[in-house]
Amino acid sequence: MDRLSLLLFGHAAFQHLNAACELGLLDLLMDRGPLTVQEIREELGLAERAADILLLGCTALGLTRKEEGRYRAAGLLTSLAQDGTWDKVKDTVAFEQHIVYPGQADFAASLRENTNVGLRRIPGDHPDLYHRFSWHPHLEKVFYRYMRSWSELANEHLVDSLDLTGTTRLLDCGGGDAVNTIALARRHPGLRATVLEIPSSAPLTEKRIAEAGLDDRVTVQPCDMFADPFPTGNDCVLFAHQLVIWTPEENTTLLRKAHDALDAGGRVVIFNSMSDDEGDGPLVAALDSVYFASLPAEGGMIYPWRLHEECLREAGFTGIERIEVPGWTPHGILVATKQDT
Ligand SMILES: C[S@@+](CC[C@H](N)C(=O)[O-])C[C@H]1O[C@@H](n2cnc3c(N)ncnc32)[C@H](O)[C@@H]1O
Repeated sequence: MDRLSLLLFGHAAFQHLNAACELGLLDLLMDRGPLTVQEIREELGLAERAADILLLGCTALGLTRKEEGRYRAAGLLTSLAQDGTWDKVKDTVAFEQHIVYPGQADFAASLRENTNVGLRRIPGDHPDLYHRFSWHPHLEKVFYRYMRSWSELANEHLVDSLDLTGTTRLLDCGGGDAVNTIALARRHPGLRATVLEIPSSAPLTEKRIAEAGLDDRVTVQPCDMFADPFPTGNDCVLFAHQLVIWTPEENTTLLRKAHDALDAGGRVVIFNSMSDDEGDGPLVAALDSVYFASLPAEGGMIYPWRLHEECLREAGFTGIERIEVPGWTPHGILVATKQDT
């Protein structure tokens, strides 16, 4: 019953977490705890009843601990704060609250109609979420802050395990704010890269590349990667957090375009969350699929490894290699090669 209760009130559990982040309770306790209710109320400007509700929820959920009348943050949160993960978790909480939450109320309808019914919660006239962000600058900020954090939770493994020795030109398809290209370019000083992004997001990509001091090696090509041809002359094509958005057919189309654009011997890299081939987990992959079913585009989910491998083969790639990524996010990496002719 405990597990069922948590499911039944899962939305309320998340709201406690979100409020504790938004109101600054957890940061306050990590900086200055343990504190009494009175001290917490004064610092956060909360009425007695409001503080009681928040502390009741956070303590029952294990986000805070109460000892001798004083509250402190859970040890796990303190250790996440020490290694920089906590800020990334907070960016994820904001994304869940402002973007995912409203849309996934339409999850059942999205399954029934096999399309992203939840996107109706974010007004706009384009059939995908990304093109609608230009109408919603606040959501756009929340999204790209989260996307950077979500990438950074795992991309050190991409940088460590992807051998780019001898690779001179990288193409990052739907590269967002270039977080992954920037990490790879920093590790490989000889690498040049092009980031494909939709025209409304490209200025942010350019800004982040310039801030990283990489505008002499990394450029942005504003485009629609489905409609426009891929630039040629690249020996590595990266799809990071990209092939979870689209249907398998669309993924194969993108991979085929990558195959056509690559030089012989060139490689394609898929970096995103993966689910198990058996279809029974991991849990974060299963839960994150609710978002991909409800919101960003018509089809998408945290696909099993084998599905990406099928699309790679259909697109003409060979020598497919799986790289498991350690950690609590369900990230994985697939690398495949365009055969020498
Ligand atoms: C989930 S985000 C991933 C961003 C980045 N690759 C990362 O891992 O942090 C998907 C990105 O693909 C871009 N995108 C979506 N549709 C696109 C299209 N048709 N052409 C080019 N980019 C697109 C979006 O604007 C968004 O920045």
